[in-house]
Amino acid sequence: MDMLIIRGGIPLAGNVRLAGAKNASLPIMAASIAVSGLSQLRRVPHLADVSTLTQVLESLGAVVTRDLSTGELTITPPHATTGIADYDLVRRMRASVCVLGPLLARWGKAVVSLPGGCNIGHRPIDLHLKGLVALGARIRIERGYVHAEATRLHGAEIYLGGPFGSTVTGTANIMTAASLARGITRISAAACEPEIVDLGNYLNAAGARITGHGTPVIEIEGVDELHGVEHEVIPDRIEAGTMMIAAAATCGDVLIEDAQPRHLSAVIDILRQIGVTIEPSSTNDGRTGLHVSGAAYLNPADCTALPYPGVPTDLQAQLTALLCLVPGISVITDKVFPDRFMHVPELLRMGAQIRREGASAIIAGPAHLSGTNVMASDLRASAALVIAALAAEGESVIRRVYHLDRGYEKHDEKLRQLGAQIQRTTDHPEALPESLRMTGESTMEQHKIEEISSRFTPPFQNQPTKPHFLSDGYSIARPMVSQSDDSSGPVVDL
Ligand code: UD1
Repeated sequence: MDMLIIRGGIPLAGNVRLAGAKNASLPIMAASIAVSGLSQLRRVPHLADVSTLTQVLESLGAVVTRDLSTGELTITPPHATTGIADYDLVRRMRASVCVLGPLLARWGKAVVSLPGGCNIGHRPIDLHLKGLVALGARIRIERGYVHAEATRLHGAEIYLGGPFGSTVTGTANIMTAASLARGITRISAAACEPEIVDLGNYLNAAGARITGHGTPVIEIEGVDELHGVEHEVIPDRIEAGTMMIAAAATCGDVLIEDAQPRHLSAVIDILRQIGVTIEPSSTNDGRTGLHVSGAAYLNPADCTALPYPGVPTDLQAQLTALLCLVPGISVITDKVFPDRFMHVPELLRMGAQIRREGASAIIAGPAHLSGTNVMASDLRASAALVIAALAAEGESVIRRVYHLDRGYEKHDEKLRQLGAQIQRTTDHPEALPESLRMTGESTMEQHKIEEISSRFTPPFQNQPTKPHFLSDGYSIARPMVSQSDDSSGPVVDL
């Protein structure tokens, strides 16, 4: 297992190019099983999740190849299939459930394991099943598997809203299945995410008749067959947002190539409220993107993660890490996954002051984050810990980075290109940096001092007394992180 060692305090600078979107690639790859010809997909990122779905597709009889010179992924659909997506694969990645609709529509049968538990909260698939039943599927759950059957699906009116909004992969499942159903399907309360638009564009290029994708009402006129298709996956807006937040947290200056402002309007808006400068820009070779520059003066924020076009839940943890550095009280609420706060205890270990209240985290800043050992619990939490470590004083070690590798292509390499001191190594006690080895007496003493002093400075004791939030323009200096002149590491100027 790998771990990352990060020396914080270095402003990120330079250009970074986005990979293709993971959350667009996965449902498109899954939909390829419903297509009768080849799917030639460009810009599919090299990720653990893509490898897992590749294995699922291969287990269903598809042939998946990647051309290493162009990066193109080609999927040849099966001639025949068992229709069984096994627990051992599905439990590794929930998005495997995206094969359910395509299998059922094309092959009349699907046996797909229920995904099981998830670190970011309860994630049922009841809306997926409700939609498929409306399309005429017979569904039973037996021994942890969904068994779905249908001779030919038929069009239907389907409402896909749930207690937390719509469902992204549920919309993908139903939209793909309805593409091969007899008649017209109308999905209302459909997910509007750009990844759904990308899937709709892929299916339309394969001969589907879909309109309204990207709005809450999608209409699909079923066709008898989908044919082979070439498609380029959209750039990853969550990687873009993560890099924007990392630039802001390190007071950096970064051009994020291929970032699509229209996919990121809520993120741009909240970061601008916080005080980050973001401008559309382009490179010498004509690539467009977003130029992000951090600032020494940042404002606290009251921010809520919502379905698209709101601030994505997939950036909530990273924003939490940024807001720890901002003077004043910030509030971040997650209305999509109200329990998605596994990053909070790890941020507390780095010195953050955060109190969890239901679906919200209340953050008192600025925290003087200091490097320490932390453990990644899930994909976006690991990205948040990387951001906190980049902004912290001293060295941090982030363990279980396989979570990060699920969804970010070459994240550490890209950050290194931007000047970060970040090193990947095998997780082994010997590999721990000297500063984090708790063996010496002086370190024990230091621990004791910290423990005692923390009794007198409980979190939130030192909150600013001024009424917070931003409408009054409240804004004070945050710690400027800069490199020291000597070799003893970075210093933090207050
Ligand atoms: C997708 C994304 C994930 C992102 C999430 C929300 C992919 C591969 N993953 O996940 O990165 O965090 O959208 O933007 O695209 N729900 C139900 N019943 C259902 C389905 C969902 O109640 O049948 C609830 C979920 O528990 C959650 C909310 O609806 O509270 C949204 O979930 P959903 O959009 O389905 O997430 P995913 O598609 O799994």
